[in-house]
Amino acid sequence: MASSSNEKDFAMTDANADFSLNGKSINLKVRKGSVGPEVVDIGSLYKETGAFTYDPGFTSTASCESQITYIDGDEGVLLHRGYPIDQLAEQGDFLEVCYLLLYGELPTRTQKEDFDRRVTRHTMVHEQMAWFYRGFRRDAHPMAVMCGVVGALSAFYHDSTDISDPQQRMIASIRLIAKMPTIAAMAYKYHVGQPFVYPKNELNFAANFLHMCFAVPCEDYKVNPILARAMERIFILHADHEQNASTSTVRLAGSSGANPFACIAAGIACLWGPAHGGANEAALNMLGEIGSVDRIPEFIARAKDKNDPFRLMGFGHRVYKNYDPRAKIMQKTTHEVLGELGIKDDPLLDVAMELERIALTDEYFIEKKLYPNIDFYSGITLKALGFPTTMFTVLFAVARTVGWIAQWKEMIEDPSQKIGRPRQLYTGHTQRDYTPIAKR
Ligand code: SDX
Repeated sequence: MASSSNEKDFAMTDANADFSLNGKSINLKVRKGSVGPEVVDIGSLYKETGAFTYDPGFTSTASCESQITYIDGDEGVLLHRGYPIDQLAEQGDFLEVCYLLLYGELPTRTQKEDFDRRVTRHTMVHEQMAWFYRGFRRDAHPMAVMCGVVGALSAFYHDSTDISDPQQRMIASIRLIAKMPTIAAMAYKYHVGQPFVYPKNELNFAANFLHMCFAVPCEDYKVNPILARAMERIFILHADHEQNASTSTVRLAGSSGANPFACIAAGIACLWGPAHGGANEAALNMLGEIGSVDRIPEFIARAKDKNDPFRLMGFGHRVYKNYDPRAKIMQKTTHEVLGELGIKDDPLLDVAMELERIALTDEYFIEKKLYPNIDFYSGITLKALGFPTTMFTVLFAVARTVGWIAQWKEMIEDPSQKIGRPRQLYTGHTQRDYTPIAKR
């Protein structure tokens, strides 16, 4: 039987840090988690010293306490509720990881069957939503469609927007996990001008998604089990990642009491950025721009040139200063998919492998600890599976929805939760009087 995930099986020991400013000395509590850096609790700093801390980009700031995902960037470790990502990706399926992220423990067989059934029964969207797509141009970026359609979910599912009701919170969570693949597949079908394909309850999460994307009414479509397994693994690798930009966006939006559908739409918007989830699309476009192995040195030089805004997309990470553990599994999946599809020599893969080899031996990348991240190989795999580059970040959003909603749920259920409202270092004008236009 799964044990209660609320028992803290580690002692939270506290220490203190002395802080003095302008002749005033205060004592700040230092808190240790179960693993990872300790934190200095600065909640009373402003009240006691009149000063704020300053950390744009939050490079040294813990925004919350969480028990969902742990990353050790120096060691290249990623744990979901304590389980290593490579074990989950190799042995689990995506809905099992969803259960783990939401409830804190791996499900028993009965719990898994019940969870799968609950998600499966929510995969269809309100039929009226199909009209939503017709308002977009066919060539609209699918991420723009996702922002619009997911934000509109709260207009269709009023009965699960009361965030104070645990029952409604869970129904909204299940609906979002279940409907994201359907909404994403509909965005793809609309983009390519093909009719929408309804979900099929007998298919598992990834197979259902591939069927909704690639089946057509004129003939039966059989999902390749190897490709479906690869898709499941890709979803697992993207499921959650601690307090990244889009998760922090969802938490901040949720801290105001906004409904979960609106919060997830905010997360999708943030994920779209090329520095974040948009990097998989940008990385594949970059590999295409490089085009051949002999042009790699030119782009490496550009990436190192301070005056050139070009960066190697799919390289570097705020937290990982070692190889992103997901990138290793992604690379293996890339070879599996290309092998299954009989793609012998993919020029983009040749460029990617050579680019990685050169970058990992280059002084600049070694000194700045820049390694391939999850977005470096995912694009090659997704392209081989048949997706256009504009759909890559959409797939990231489909997978990350469970991470966003698990983090949102943890925040809402935290009794100390309050609205997030950062302050600033003001360097603008001090007060001055209005000058009539005649005198300007
Ligand atoms: C994701 O946070 C998460 O967990 C995100 C994510 C998740 O699962 O949610 O893991 C998903 O977003 C992965 C990252 C995808 N983005 C990219 O691949 C875009 C390319 N990478 C860079 O933009 C950058 O590495 C970031 C945005 C990922 C990280 O930015 P940081 O931590 O703010 O790093 P930085 O910009 O401070 O860079 C440190 C130094 C800088 O040089 P200096 O100013 O110190 O001289 O390294 C350089 C940067 O110029 N640098 C790069 C580089 N990334 C950083 N130089 C060339 N190419 C790069 N890719």
